[in-house]
Amino acid sequence: MSAQSTAKKTVKRVVGEKGWQALRRAKRKISGPVAKSPTGVAAISDDLCKLAQHFKTDKWGAHRYAKHYQHHLQHLKNDSMNLLEIGIGGYNRAGQGGASLRMWKHFFPNAQIFGVDIEDKSFVDQDRITTFIGDQSDPASLTSIAEKIGTLDVIIDDGSHRSPHVITTFETLFPLLRDGGIYAVEDTQSSYWPEWMGSEDLNAPNTSMGLLKRLTDGLNYEEFVTEDYEPSYTDLNIVGMHFYHNLVIIEKGKNAEGSNKKNALKARYGKA
Ligand SMILES: C[S@@+](CC[C@H](N)C(=O)[O-])C[C@H]1O[C@@H](n2cnc3c(N)ncnc32)[C@H](O)[C@@H]1O
Repeated sequence: MSAQSTAKKTVKRVVGEKGWQALRRAKRKISGPVAKSPTGVAAISDDLCKLAQHFKTDKWGAHRYAKHYQHHLQHLKNDSMNLLEIGIGGYNRAGQGGASLRMWKHFFPNAQIFGVDIEDKSFVDQDRITTFIGDQSDPASLTSIAEKIGTLDVIIDDGSHRSPHVITTFETLFPLLRDGGIYAVEDTQSSYWPEWMGSEDLNAPNTSMGLLKRLTDGLNYEEFVTEDYEPSYTDLNIVGMHFYHNLVIIEKGKNAEGSNKKNALKARYGKA
């Protein structure tokens, strides 16, 4: 018998059953109701890999994206924010799709979750999940959806995975993402597949990876020595790019840390 249960028995003998119950009631009053451990989906709501498996999105399993999202989106966990995902899933199969939107809803308890798909996925709509029909290859369609949502804090492109569509979507929606927001492009492997409007040429400029690789130079635009270089919108508004297997995550922010080039290149710039 443990020391705790021996002590319990002794106190009970001294105060009697009624006294014991009174003591328990007093203890509950002081310490409040005993918190129940979460069960079911609530028990895994902090773990995106487990949520992805629970809701059966391929963001964990077929792909290994959930652990990267956990790392890059954790800081937004309890924010009241808007997340937009292009591509709800299920293609034209009736009643199929919505897995990732449900996953996001449970990971972000205070967020509004929006999805766009070329097919009608309105059956997925529920509290904090709203779907739109839209075509990511059409800037007007994307802009009108973005206007309905308002502030865009997180944008995820998991739609057609055709390079021209990925590029159009990025060019249309990235400027609308809030400063400090996160933009993700999934399944970048299709960039290398001619059958999916990609290219075998690793230097092809018009593929999704071609665009994304080009953006990395913009991170360092302040170091360029070309006279009168005019920084682009993405030069000025991307502060981080993270390349993973088939997934790229972009951090939006003011890119203006300054340069040491005038000190390092004295012959070019003269004395500082
Ligand atoms: C890979 S699934 C999305 C999976 C979902 N995000 C998940 O993780 O559970 C891709 C979806 O993109 C949609 N899609 C294809 N072309 C599109 C386009 N041009 N615009 C918008 N959605 C498109 C398809 O109908 C399909 O449902």
